[in-house]
Amino acid sequence: MIKTKVFFSLVSIMIASGSSSKAQQLYHERHRPQIHFSPKQKWTNDPNGMVYHNGTWHLFFQHYPDSTIWGPMHWGHATSKDLVHWQEQPIALYPDSLGYIFSGSAVVDKNNTAGFGKNALVAIFTHHDPQGEKEKRNNFQNQSIAYSTDEGRTWTKYAGNPVLKNPGITDFRDPKVCWYEPQKKWIMTLATKDRITFYSSPDLKGWTKESEFGKELGAHGGVWECPDLFQLDDDNGKKVWVLIVSINPGGPNGGSATQYFLGDFDGSRFAPVDTNTRWIDYGPDNYAGITWSNTGNRKIFLGWMSNWLYANIVPATTWRNAMTIARELKLKRTGNEMYVASEPVAELKKIQSKPVVLHNIQVQKSFDVASKAGKITFPARLDLNFEKNSDYSIVLSNDAGEEVAIGYNKAQQQYYIDRSRSGQTNFQKDFPARHVAPRLSKAGSMDLSLILDVNSVEMFADSGLTVMTSIYFPTKPFTHIRIESPENVTIKKLTVSSLKSIW
Ligand code: FRU
Repeated sequence: MIKTKVFFSLVSIMIASGSSSKAQQLYHERHRPQIHFSPKQKWTNDPNGMVYHNGTWHLFFQHYPDSTIWGPMHWGHATSKDLVHWQEQPIALYPDSLGYIFSGSAVVDKNNTAGFGKNALVAIFTHHDPQGEKEKRNNFQNQSIAYSTDEGRTWTKYAGNPVLKNPGITDFRDPKVCWYEPQKKWIMTLATKDRITFYSSPDLKGWTKESEFGKELGAHGGVWECPDLFQLDDDNGKKVWVLIVSINPGGPNGGSATQYFLGDFDGSRFAPVDTNTRWIDYGPDNYAGITWSNTGNRKIFLGWMSNWLYANIVPATTWRNAMTIARELKLKRTGNEMYVASEPVAELKKIQSKPVVLHNIQVQKSFDVASKAGKITFPARLDLNFEKNSDYSIVLSNDAGEEVAIGYNKAQQQYYIDRSRSGQTNFQKDFPARHVAPRLSKAGSMDLSLILDVNSVEMFADSGLTVMTSIYFPTKPFTHIRIESPENVTIKKLTVSSLKSIW
């Protein structure tokens, strides 16, 4: 009897799903990103503990396995051999008597400084005590460590946790640890409310305060979170220190965003080169991003592709939220200014189809990309090279009349992404909007790369000098791309490739 019932319900599921059975499959649900990491099920926010070890890219992530709404935080875990395809692993860290497992980082302890074993992976994270928070104590966030000696498969929390106790600062979290070779010590970069505090340690267990940075500098529209500190080479091969600081709210387009400072770090203090506020990504949906540790000179960044303004209420079914694609960071100069530019990692080519390359396209009012490039299938990548600095708009659309426009406004020297008519938008008042970003490049011609998943665009303009990331929820998939321009613009080169699902 029971068997028959199961059999009939299986048949009815199969009939109900019909030709859309793929849409019922795990990782192919409606709005599920096809080229971005998202958890199999339930909630995610920040990427955590990113470390490269023995040919594997580890990505841990803030995860609540019981709901699609933020709750008691765990560290989920995923691994990749190529930064593109991800395999979810068992949960790495569960909440315990010291609290939830908030954001943090991981390192390879090559010299066994902590005594957990040579090349042990050590995770450094914030223990957040929800009871202390409820009682309005000011020391409910403390830093703790855990280690793995089996390639990140299993983790043991250190018996002496927490290793860095809260001195009475309500927001005291998100430790990012790196090795400072000149003084052979670990540096912890910690978000402490409205500033960064640097600590140092010989063994990851005992920490000494070194200095504070940023109370009077940068954007302060919200609390500082999820910092990162690392070096990049400038165009003369000189090392420059980069300090990344996420902020929520107070981003350039509202809500969450990530600013950064350039400067020098001497093992104790960070000295900025200037007082400018720079942004890693001007779009609304790239937050809490940090770089992988143990990658030598290459610096690979990935962020959470959402915004605290609406992360808990975006349309979702089995899971909620995803990460950006992995991006390579480089210092680039334009005029007298230096910036951190981001570009999609070269590994993305692995899922890129043979591109259709078009030359010298005259856009007279409107150009339907499919008319020359053939049918567009999403996810897709578009690389455009414009002869000169002109007004244009690249419009993604479906036959429900919904669209997203990505473009450039010459008079204002601004790039934009307009998702105000992108489909489901009314779950939060700020979601349907046109977001803008300054053009930083001084070059005459313009280049633009767009990575288009089923519900997101990542725009890399001028070789990654201006970057914008935006998510959206069309009621039907986007199927068309047209390019519009009020002036007869020439696209010198247009490359269109489809991207193969990673799932
Ligand atoms: C940033 C953040 C972190 C914190 C974590 C909690 O998005 O608020 O500061 O550690 O999320 O999930």
